[in-house]
Amino acid sequence: MESRRIILSYPEENVALITFNRPEKLNALDLETRKEISFLLDEIEEDARCLIITGKGKAFAAGADIKEMSTRTSFEYLKISKYTTWLNHKIENLEIPVIAAINGYALGAGCELAMSCDIRIASKKARFGLPELNLGIMPGAGGTQKLPRFIGIGMAKRLIFTGEIINANVALRLGLIEEVVEHERLMERTLEIARIISRKPPLAIKLAKRAINATMSMPLEEGLKYELSLAALLFSTEDAREGLRAFIEKREPEFKGY
Ligand code: CAA
Repeated sequence: MESRRIILSYPEENVALITFNRPEKLNALDLETRKEISFLLDEIEEDARCLIITGKGKAFAAGADIKEMSTRTSFEYLKISKYTTWLNHKIENLEIPVIAAINGYALGAGCELAMSCDIRIASKKARFGLPELNLGIMPGAGGTQKLPRFIGIGMAKRLIFTGEIINANVALRLGLIEEVVEHERLMERTLEIARIISRKPPLAIKLAKRAINATMSMPLEEGLKYELSLAALLFSTEDAREGLRAFIEKREPEFKGY
């Protein structure tokens, strides 16, 4: 499906790819773009086992659309939270893994969206930052909550208070992203990872993701109980029987998804 603002494609079986498609505006995330993504997520969750999000041109996404935001009232800002804060939350909790293939600028809302993905692979050309304070506003779709969890409170405060933009190697060192690759290899490498993920038993992936996400804010003991209940559940699946048997029989497993 192709539209003006985003392109949805399936580069491989079970792998969906969303590409932000407003390169002339550095893929600034306006409401229309966010709505288009939001409407597609349910379909993608059903049709794919892994989702990749990337941007066309020299940006992943250079933030929320500043022009569109320039007349926004507090009331309107709250009213569209379904497509900002809660869209990111939806991405974070999608039942399939989401990989951000960060090709360039990931600033403000673009960085927040990348932080909502499960894994971040970045090109050497990628740049990261939360420069909202330069505009007299502040991060409002997860930035102040997630950046400290990725890179620690002190460094998050430094980046948010100064609006400093960091390169991919610094982002990797800080733990904001998981891998940096040559720009030309970004999609190839991301697809490699997506392919590996898409061949895993889907129910096990779904429950492992749920175990990690749901327990991040729980005390360890509660988290361990939650994990145990999900892990036990998987022993009633065909895929667990198949995976365990295939190891013993020294062959590749054939997972069915149940
Ligand atoms: N919103 C709207 N348009 C944007 C944009 C944005 N966030 N970022 C870039 N653009 C537009 C520019 O206005 C320009 O359009 P025109 O050609 O029509 O003038 C085009 O994209 C190209 O941008 P530049 O000419 O500025 O490109 P550059 O290479 O010189 O600079 C940049 C790149 C440093 C990323 C610069 O564009 C920039 O600073 N962008 C804004 C980054 C930012 O502040 N993001 C945070 C926004 S607020 C937010 O995201 C949080 C929230 O919701 C609360």
